[in-house]
Amino acid sequence: MAFFENEVEVLIDEGRLQQRIRSLGAELTKDYRDKDLTLVSVLKGSVFFATDLARAIDLPLTLEYLGASSYHGRTETTGEVRITTDVSMPLAGKDLLVVEDIIDTGLTMKFLLENLQARHPASVKVCALLEKPSRARTAVTIDYRGFVIDDVFVVGYGLDFAERYRNLPFVGILLRGGRDSGRA
Ligand code: IMP
Ligand code: MG
Repeated sequence: MAFFENEVEVLIDEGRLQQRIRSLGAELTKDYRDKDLTLVSVLKGSVFFATDLARAIDLPLTLEYLGASSYHGRTETTGEVRITTDVSMPLAGKDLLVVEDIIDTGLTMKFLLENLQARHPASVKVCALLEKPSRARTAVTIDYRGFVIDDVFVVGYGLDFAERYRNLPFVGILLRGGRDSGRA
C-alpha cells in the first residue's frame, strides 16, 4: 500500500501490532477460561482490532458490535454520546469485554460503560488498543491495553481522519498536508 506516502508516518508497524495482539489474546484466554466472554466491538474504529483479537483468543467467545457517536464541540468530544447501532443479543449475565480503538478523553468509554452496566452483565472490562493518557478528562479503568501513545493524532488499523485511512495495516501519525486535511 503506498497511497498514503507523504501523508502518514508509521508509528506502530504491522509486526508490532500483531505481536502485541497475540500476547493480549493469550492473556485473555487465561483470564476468561471459565467465563462467558462476549467481545463488544465499538464501531467503526475498533473493528480491525476486534477481529484480530478474537482470532488470538482460544475460547468459544461471541462477538457483538455497538455503534457510538459523540457529539463534537469544535475540535473535541463534548462527552455527549449517542448509541447509533445497538448489539443484537441481550447482554444480561455475559462477561463483556468492550473493545475500543483508542481512549482519548475517556468520555465516550465512560458513557458506554454506564450504558452497558444498566443491562446487568456478569462483568464488564475494557480492552483498548491505544491510550493517550495526556488527554484523559475522566478516570476510566483500562483493563487491557495495547500501547500508550503521546498526544498525536493517529490513523490506520481502524482509526480514521474524516473517515479515511482506516484500511492502513499499521498505526501512523497523520502529517500536515494529508489528504483532505483541513476539511474535517
Ligand atoms: P474520547 O471520548 O475522547 O476518549 O474519544 C474517543 C474517540 O475519539 C475514539 O473512539 C476515536 O474515534 C476518536 N479519536 C481520539 N483520538 C483519535 C486519534 O488520534 N485518531 C483518530 N481518532 C481518534
Ligand atoms: Mg471510535
